[in-house]
Order: sequence, then C-alpha cells, then structure tokens
Amino acid sequence: MSLDQLASFFGFTRTPFRRDLAPAMLHRHSGHNEAVARIRWCISETALAVITGEVGAGKTVALRAALAELDTSRHTVIYLPNPAVGARGIHAAVVTSLGGVPRFHTAALIAQTMDHLAAEKHERGRDVILAVDEAHLLNTDQLEQLRLLTNSEMDSVAPFTGLLLGQPTLRRRIKLGAFAALDQRIMLRYALPGMTQAETRDYLSHHLKLAGRGDQLFSDDAANLIHQTSRGLPRAVNNLALQALVATYAANKTIVDESATRAAVTEVTAE
Ligand SMILES: Nc1ncnc2c1ncn2[C@@H]1O[C@H](COP(=O)(O)OP(=O)(O)O)[C@@H](O)[C@H]1O
Ligand SMILES: [Mg+2]
Repeated sequence: MSLDQLASFFGFTRTPFRRDLAPAMLHRHSGHNEAVARIRWCISETALAVITGEVGAGKTVALRAALAELDTSRHTVIYLPNPAVGARGIHAAVVTSLGGVPRFHTAALIAQTMDHLAAEKHERGRDVILAVDEAHLLNTDQLEQLRLLTNSEMDSVAPFTGLLLGQPTLRRRIKLGAFAALDQRIMLRYALPGMTQAETRDYLSHHLKLAGRGDQLFSDDAANLIHQTSRGLPRAVNNLALQALVATYAANKTIVDESATRAAVTEVTAE
C-alpha cells in the first residue's frame, strides 16, 4: 500500500497529516497560539525563556511559526537543533552564524562570542535570537556557559534572546540549585500542553480539509479514541490518524470508524 493508493482511495489532493506544513497552514489550537505569542514576547523583550513539552507536543513547530513572522532585516536567528555539540559547540555556532571563524582556545572563543553578539546588536542593529532545541540534553557545563553568555557586563539587558526548548525534564534540571543563577534570569516559562478533545477533533478536520476532504471522514468514536491514545499530542495524532486511514483502506470502508482506529492504536503502540 502506497500513500498514492491511499490518496486515490480517499480522494485526497495531498497526503494528510504531513509534518511539513507551511506556517500559514498550521492548526491554531490554544497551546500553539500561546507558545507562539510568548516566544514573540520574549523576542521583543530580549528575554530568556524555557519552553517545555512532551515529545511531539509542537515545540519546534511553534518556534518556527514565531520566527516566520519576524522582520529578517532586524533579527539574526541562530538555531541549534541539538545541543550535543559540547560546551565549545554553542559558542562556535554563535560565532559561525555571525560570520566569524571560531578561535581555538576556549577563553578566546568565549570573548569572541561576546564580541560578536555585542557587534551584531550595537553595530548592525540586529537582535540576536539564540534558540536551542532539545535543550533537556544540555549538560551542566553548557548550562553554565549559557548563563555566562547572558551575563553581559556592558548591557543591563541580555545581549540576545535565549529560547530553550525541551522535554519537561529541562524545567526540573534548571530548578536544581546549581543553576539558580540561570533560573533567576529566566523571564518566561511555558509548558506546552496537549490539545483538548475538542481541539484534537478540530485538528483532524483541519488536516483532512487541507488534503481536500472537508466532510466528516473520522467518526466521533474514532476521533475520541485518537485523542485519548495520543493525549492530544499533535505528532501522535498524526501517526494514529494515518494508520487509521490505512486500516480503513485495508478493510475497504469509506469512514474511519472505531474498529479501524483500534487496529491503528495496536499498530502504533506496538512500535
Ligand atoms: N500547530 C500545529 N499545526 C499542525 N501540525 C502541528 C502543529 N503542532 C505540531 N504539529 C505536528 O506535530 C509534529 C510534532 O511537532 P514538533 O514541533 O516537532 O514537536 P516537538 O518539537 O514538541 O517534539 C509536527 O511535525 C507537526 O506535524
Ligand atoms: Mg522538536
């Protein structure tokens, strides 16, 4: 069974539940909207923020949506998809993104990073946004280095907007005593929740509509089962919904019902 067969069976104009949605096509449930609004606020205040949420909750999507609205002539975005780059790695990424060649010795590299951040702001008039994704993977040394970076002597405000996105353990880690100084600098904490049941149903309809099916393809029972199993986390909803479509196709039915969805749940949760 290919995605093309699925598309022609259900009359889709494109594969539904794809992950590569353009910002304008995203589903605007309240958690997503709140996350985007808060990230935008942090950027306007050059603040440090910690955004947490479970795997697949929509953190990276919310970040991309917030960044997509920015005036690119006034902002420089440095995005680290994975902090498993060592303590030097963060500095090196900042320097490289700002057009420099990272110095070899760590002390020199740190000073160079500070200089580049200050120059970007004071000479080029651009606000720097450093977004670290999967930030729950930051090690102790890296968290300490981030704290030092936010601690500019020349400025009363931080020299950049820092956005730390990660799994719920991130919040707990930073709260531990050793990072009290970093914790105090965090101006915004937001835990991105799963969607409510009504939102999950609307999310399903939204994706199906984008794929050309504006009518009700999933039964209420099917949608509710997807919501319960996924706990409203968008990525899990996508996976379950796609598998439910496959099961419905295999059973040669026209509506995604509860039994097809049960088969999908078994399939997805067995992985
Ligand atoms: N607002 C949204 N609208 C549409 N799809 C979304 C939305 N938020 C999340 N998704 C879907 O869920 C998937 C997981 O989101 P992602 O941001 O990667 O989660 P996280 O970074 O929290 O692990 C995305 O690939 C996308 O398909
Ligand atoms: Mg992510």
